[in-house]
Amino acid sequence: MPSLRLLVLFGSQTGTAQDVAERLGREARRRRLACRVQDLDSYAVADLIREPLVIFVCATAGQGEPPDNMRNFWRFIFRKNLLATSLCQLDFAVLGLGDSSYAKFNFVAKKLHRRLLQLGGSALLPACLGDEQHELGPDAAIDPWLVALWEKVLGLYPVPAELTEIPRGVPLPSTFTLQLFQDVPNTVPQELTVSSLDPHQPPSESQPFLAPMVTNERVTGPSHFQDVRLIEFDITGSGISFVAGDVVLIQPSNSATHAQQFCQVLGLDPDQWFTLQPREPGVSSPPGLPQPCSVWHLVTQYLDIASVPRRSFFELLACLSPHELEREKLLELSSTTGQEALCEYCSRPRRTILEVLCDFPHSAGAIPADYLLDLIPRIRPRAFSIASSLLTHPNRLQILMAVVQYQTRLREPRRGLCSSWLASLNPGQGSVQVPLWVRPGSLAFPESPDTPVIMVGPGTGVAPFRAAIQERVAQGKTGNFLFFGCRWRDQDFYWEAEWQELEKRGCLTLITAFSREQDQKVYVQHRLQELGPLVWELLDRRGACFYLAGNAKFMPADVTEALTSLFQQHGGLSSPDAAAYLDRLQRTLRFQVETWA
Ligand code: 2AM
Repeated sequence: MPSLRLLVLFGSQTGTAQDVAERLGREARRRRLACRVQDLDSYAVADLIREPLVIFVCATAGQGEPPDNMRNFWRFIFRKNLLATSLCQLDFAVLGLGDSSYAKFNFVAKKLHRRLLQLGGSALLPACLGDEQHELGPDAAIDPWLVALWEKVLGLYPVPAELTEIPRGVPLPSTFTLQLFQDVPNTVPQELTVSSLDPHQPPSESQPFLAPMVTNERVTGPSHFQDVRLIEFDITGSGISFVAGDVVLIQPSNSATHAQQFCQVLGLDPDQWFTLQPREPGVSSPPGLPQPCSVWHLVTQYLDIASVPRRSFFELLACLSPHELEREKLLELSSTTGQEALCEYCSRPRRTILEVLCDFPHSAGAIPADYLLDLIPRIRPRAFSIASSLLTHPNRLQILMAVVQYQTRLREPRRGLCSSWLASLNPGQGSVQVPLWVRPGSLAFPESPDTPVIMVGPGTGVAPFRAAIQERVAQGKTGNFLFFGCRWRDQDFYWEAEWQELEKRGCLTLITAFSREQDQKVYVQHRLQELGPLVWELLDRRGACFYLAGNAKFMPADVTEALTSLFQQHGGLSSPDAAAYLDRLQRTLRFQVETWA
């Protein structure tokens, strides 16, 4: 019997923290430790007072917030009435995942670590601060931290000598067993349709709404470098409701071409069906997979074969490979010393799981079906700012989406899975349905009709502000100031006619920056500076709220800098006072940012 029950709890926004938590689970099982891996909000947090050892794996989202699936936990653990001795039986360690280009780098992990100490817990080691910005990714910090962690854990809770560690190179048992069969089952599982939705529950990740796509229109000029789409969904009867600032999550699919290629290289028959059985009790079946399920459904809707594989993928593939040369290469790529080679082969050129499998055909062809779900992560939903208001477009939901495509040293251009998939759908050809649901975003607009709003949204950053402007105008709210930037007036000036109409009606003040229509670049922050006295007056005298959204890499920092310099110039503040002023705006939610990569 294993000697200790180890618990790994994670808070994950994009899936990275979950991956790391699962890796911890595998490493624990190799060391013969019984281990449970669970997301924080599905864990009964009051049980923490009985746990001997918990590893927390927590991402920090955007501006220092905890991920969605740990928000309840976060509220609970910071309750004032918890005793300083509540967790005195607990040994813990915190592994953080963050991005050092944000001011609040790994804020959640650092704060949780401090709080657990306050509650009487004993830290096995300092918090690990994984950094997305590091060239080798968060693993650069995680790898050495894990070595130290296992040393501590096995020191405190030694495993009986007769249970030797399962060596690297030997596969752990798969999480599920997969029973394949040829015939189409009599009872084909109900697809999720409007009628099968629980009418009392709004659509969610476990129960998305299949929304008919009604518009998919390119809104950039034919000669523009970027294909940007205005996409509209019909959400009639979905129970979905949203306000300006909310985001829609879309669950994309793999392209049929990629799915076919995958089946071919793995020797899978897409027409076969299967059922899944967890190997261990207490493991729930994967959410979103019907039972029975067709291989084609699994490959097109579930397995993220277009993502860049993580190190654990190479580790497991090596274990499963019968081909000596390939196995050696895979083992090297998954070793601690092979990290630079892995980065060069995979992360830098953004090589996908499917491409890697094609490079290792003998290994790919020998993957037992049982291991598919351990080997390949699930396709994650993608978040988009909602660009329309229900007050202006009832029963409709619109997004503004750039089709992601770029070149690396690989011959084939890299394509964003979700945006390429959405762009490929043609609502003119019969019914095209997209699984989606909504959740609150990080932008919230003021209730009061007297509070002006200054919105800075270059490029597709304008999307949430279009929703806000529509909503505010419909509610009769004035004081709408929009700073919009794009390259060319006639190529990527989204919603030009709509803005002009609103300006004519006196509902909007629009300030534009066309970056490439003159010799010198003109950006939104230059316009902010030119209109410094007005911006200062709005913020300081009229209590305006300031919003910033967009995806340009340096834009958020540049605009923020322009703003603080404007505070100095027009508000007469010293440099530290200007920074403190911005900080106050941020704390009182009068300065809000939503950026995306
Ligand atoms: P550019 O592409 O001509 O450099 C929308 O993408 C607009 O944002 C474009 O006009 C783009 O200009 C501009 N942009 C690029 N980098 C920016 C930055 N750091 N700050 C503000 N705007 C920026």
